[in-house]
Amino acid sequence: MENIKRVTFTSKIGVVAAAAGSAVGLGNIWRFPSQTADGGGAIFIFVYIACILFFGIPVMMSEFIIGRSARANTAGAFHILAPGTQWKWIGRLGVLTGFIIMGFYMVVAGWTLIYFLQSITGNLHTVNDFSIHFTNILNDPLKQSVWMIVFSFLTSFFILSGVRKGIEKSAKIFMPILFLLLIILAIRSITLEGAIQGLNFLFKPNMEHVKQTVFLDAMGQAFFSLSIGMGCLITYGSYFNKSINLTKTAVQVSILDTLVAVLSGVIIFPAAFALTSSPDTIVGELVTGGPGLLFITIPELLNQMPASMAWSALFFCLLALAALTSTISLMEVVTVYLFEEYKISRRKSTIFVTLGVIILGIISSYSSVFFNILDMASAKYMLPIGGLFISIFVGWYLKQQLVTAQITNEGKLRFGVGFIKFYIFLLRFIAPIAILSIFVYGLTG
Ligand code: PHE
Repeated sequence: MENIKRVTFTSKIGVVAAAAGSAVGLGNIWRFPSQTADGGGAIFIFVYIACILFFGIPVMMSEFIIGRSARANTAGAFHILAPGTQWKWIGRLGVLTGFIIMGFYMVVAGWTLIYFLQSITGNLHTVNDFSIHFTNILNDPLKQSVWMIVFSFLTSFFILSGVRKGIEKSAKIFMPILFLLLIILAIRSITLEGAIQGLNFLFKPNMEHVKQTVFLDAMGQAFFSLSIGMGCLITYGSYFNKSINLTKTAVQVSILDTLVAVLSGVIIFPAAFALTSSPDTIVGELVTGGPGLLFITIPELLNQMPASMAWSALFFCLLALAALTSTISLMEVVTVYLFEEYKISRRKSTIFVTLGVIILGIISSYSSVFFNILDMASAKYMLPIGGLFISIFVGWYLKQQLVTAQITNEGKLRFGVGFIKFYIFLLRFIAPIAILSIFVYGLTG
């Protein structure tokens, strides 16, 4: 059978790097800070971390279990584990979700390329007002489309290079450098004069800004940031070998992902407060600042540093790379689905998917309404719905023996019986009830 000789990642580090590479991306550095500002700072972070613990990690483990036991693409995996049932639709929903996410994510990834080029040519260095600068880019859909297309091709190049050479290698190199740079920037930001207000905003609960949708937003952000709910990690899990500890991997990836998100907050908020000329309006601006936060505040911060051109070139290059390891994981899901389910070559399916993504991306570049619909629909609704069914599938449908065998690597790893019971309990009751109640609460608000 084809799935027996399926390729695997070569090492444990490669596995964590690839999964963390998928998780860490624009979701952490661009989406998390603006969602946090919108959700009232610390309260949002608190709910976010609860989401990671109660259903983030359990759903991530479930995806690994499904992927490694079925050794197939997302839809194929449900088909193999639950033949003759309708579960395959959850896999198909995941593939569709991945496609939709790429439709707006590639546009933002294109912005990172624009900023990168402007930093090496020195253009960014001469900008006086970064909000005007960013607005100008937003008002230039042609430019956005061009760079979105470049980014889509870049992604497809890695997909064509394959699982080991493309996915694993790129993540192993890029992730550590990104982490180091974020730490340097965070230190720089919190040592600015006036930075403390930013830290207060981030870590002190501010009840005034809390909205009823904070739970829904935090849940969506958790799913989006961890890359769960659409089978991305089912696909990656299908490349894990027998010796990978699924629990440990899920915990490590979630910790890394959360650290990067919080670090981004620690870079952006102190800088935003310290560098503003209008301290009275800054909180309001942050709350309405939305997606622009990263592209306005960070270049401003970088411009104030010595050797600013080098720093901003490095930062935007790494941001683009963080986005790239995520777009690679998204494109991989849709591509393997096509080539395994419809038996077309990897090359042909990559070309097909890339063209589809470019069409969505062009519409997103020209219409911010469309862009926002794709963002909201995928993060707030499609991923949590996928996650809900994935937890039900592993908690209720799959045989507990199979789940236990996957978690313990056929009995080779020692986990107390209590641990596995607790995990199944989370999947059966806590995760689905939490996800459903957040939906009901958020939607009736
Ligand atoms: N987790 C990625 C990020 O934070 C985005 C992503 C979502 C990737 C879903 C794959 C699947 O940028």
